[in-house]
Amino acid sequence: MFGLLVQTDMLLALLAMIAAAVTGVRASDPRLRRWLLITAVLVASRLVVIGLMAPGGLVLVEARLLVQLPLAVLPLLLAFLVRQPVTTHVAAAGVVLSGWWLFVPFGPQDAVTVLGTSVLVLGLAAALSAALGRWRESGTRVARLPWLGAGLVLVLTLVLVVNYRENVAQASGHDHHHGGVSVDQLTGPRDRAPDVRLTMTAAKGQVELASGQVVDGLTFNGVAPGPEIRVRKGQLVEVTLQNKDVDEGVTLHWHGVDVPNAEDGVPGVTQEAVRPGRQHVYRFVPNRAGTFWYHSHRDALENVQRGLFGSLVVEDGEKFDGFERTMFTHIWPGGEETGVFGTADRPVREAVPAGRKVLLRLVNSSQDPQLVRLAGTEFTVAAIDGNAIGGATPLAAGTDLQLAAGGRYDVAFTMPGTAVTVALSDTAATAFSPDGTADPAVPQEGTPFDPLAYGSGADSAGESTSYNRSYDLRLDDGFGFNQGRIGFVSSLMNGRLYPAVPTLQVSEGDRVKVRIINRSMINHPMHLHGHRVRVLSRNGVPATGSPWWTDTLNVAPGQVFEVAFTADNPGIWMDHCHNFRHGANGMVMHLAYDGVSTPFSHDGSPE
Ligand code: C2O
Ligand code: CU
Repeated sequence: MFGLLVQTDMLLALLAMIAAAVTGVRASDPRLRRWLLITAVLVASRLVVIGLMAPGGLVLVEARLLVQLPLAVLPLLLAFLVRQPVTTHVAAAGVVLSGWWLFVPFGPQDAVTVLGTSVLVLGLAAALSAALGRWRESGTRVARLPWLGAGLVLVLTLVLVVNYRENVAQASGHDHHHGGVSVDQLTGPRDRAPDVRLTMTAAKGQVELASGQVVDGLTFNGVAPGPEIRVRKGQLVEVTLQNKDVDEGVTLHWHGVDVPNAEDGVPGVTQEAVRPGRQHVYRFVPNRAGTFWYHSHRDALENVQRGLFGSLVVEDGEKFDGFERTMFTHIWPGGEETGVFGTADRPVREAVPAGRKVLLRLVNSSQDPQLVRLAGTEFTVAAIDGNAIGGATPLAAGTDLQLAAGGRYDVAFTMPGTAVTVALSDTAATAFSPDGTADPAVPQEGTPFDPLAYGSGADSAGESTSYNRSYDLRLDDGFGFNQGRIGFVSSLMNGRLYPAVPTLQVSEGDRVKVRIINRSMINHPMHLHGHRVRVLSRNGVPATGSPWWTDTLNVAPGQVFEVAFTADNPGIWMDHCHNFRHGANGMVMHLAYDGVSTPFSHDGSPE
């Protein structure tokens, strides 16, 4: 719904800009009134659309309400009251500017510049119009040319060029290169023998799906998804990553595990990408049990999709005594567009004895939110992103689970005497039954599961509710610059693309509150490295269930989330959209601790 409103508003703004241009050109035409009216009607329709967007939170429409509408409405009113070419010209310029700021969104850091530029442009339009009026009285041909329109286009182009140069300047000045502790000193324990030691070799390879379809893939130790890594909480894990022949280079990022910064696997920030024939050693101690995953963070858009990922399960003391399965929801290049479980692009039947405890670890390794349907039994969501849910109550069979890209749900139930189906679609479906012969019965659409009020214990979390740092993160559609290119993207963070997105700077020990505001037309699964965040509220409604800890939070169009975390893991961390396509566009920013610098610099794709 919100996405549709955004589109409608954009269309209206565009039409209003065109109508304003015509109005400006005809400023001295006696039939002008009609065009002025058309422009006004279009602007008024925007007002209605904007009103419909507002209920989710005023911050969703603040740029429209405080900048775009006044710029269009006030000069228009003046033009109706004082009928002169000058006021008409200013009104036309105002409407064009109003639309301009819709298509070139800005963050809080640029608000003053934006307002200053706008006032300047309107003033210039008035001065130019007055001068032009006198010149045109002389009646020469040249004076009749559309000077004002040309002037406006010139000024706006100038603004773009300045903006562009600023982005380039920020790009080079942005790298955290100076002083303090270097990220490569922030390692896991190096001085004792590891409890678990393994080697992961990345290589090109064919991945065969259940249907026989072969994907031109990438593998860890010859398989994709890569081998499951299973360790116990508190163990020191050492992983040697070797790259046989993956041209772009490889890294390992331990998604959801709050490892020390040097072990985080972000090329250009915490290490160089591992080139073919080279290796890199990671060491860390997982301090929370749960479902996590690993993936390469180099050209992740292509390379994760092709297979450079796997699960990382951290167990608590005792072993789970029951039937356990890790299920990735993945979209293979050239495969089912709706996604499949692992490599199973055919329905699957499995035997699970009645009465057995079942634990399904669902991991979304695709770019988009995945809707997982579960039928045949009631079940609980036992954990979200590796964080156990307190007081998890049974959910009715048929409750839909929407899994954020990069996110995990642990689903638990006791196997009934009849079949249970877990499905993404007709083809991507698994049936568990006592004798293993039942076919999947793909469930109908059910009620969506909502973590906001699920479980209990929200108020006993023992977390301080005072914050000494807060940050607003506005996600927009619009024109932006990324590495010398301009494009219309749905990936702007505070009006900018990586590396020009302002860094969230913190000191160790800070309590940080972040408001994430999605004003765009599509989903953005936001992922902060090195920290788990706690959801405080969504669209103003406080979280009341079990404390909702997450590392990958899907923020849908029109949603405003308030999240909080403690700055307890020094380093320079990625905070980005886990839709790798958006990441590659530049939907990436950093969380940086004071006094930490990196010797690495970025080349290639932002993620
Ligand atoms: Cu799972 Cu920065 O990513
Ligand atoms: Cu996104």
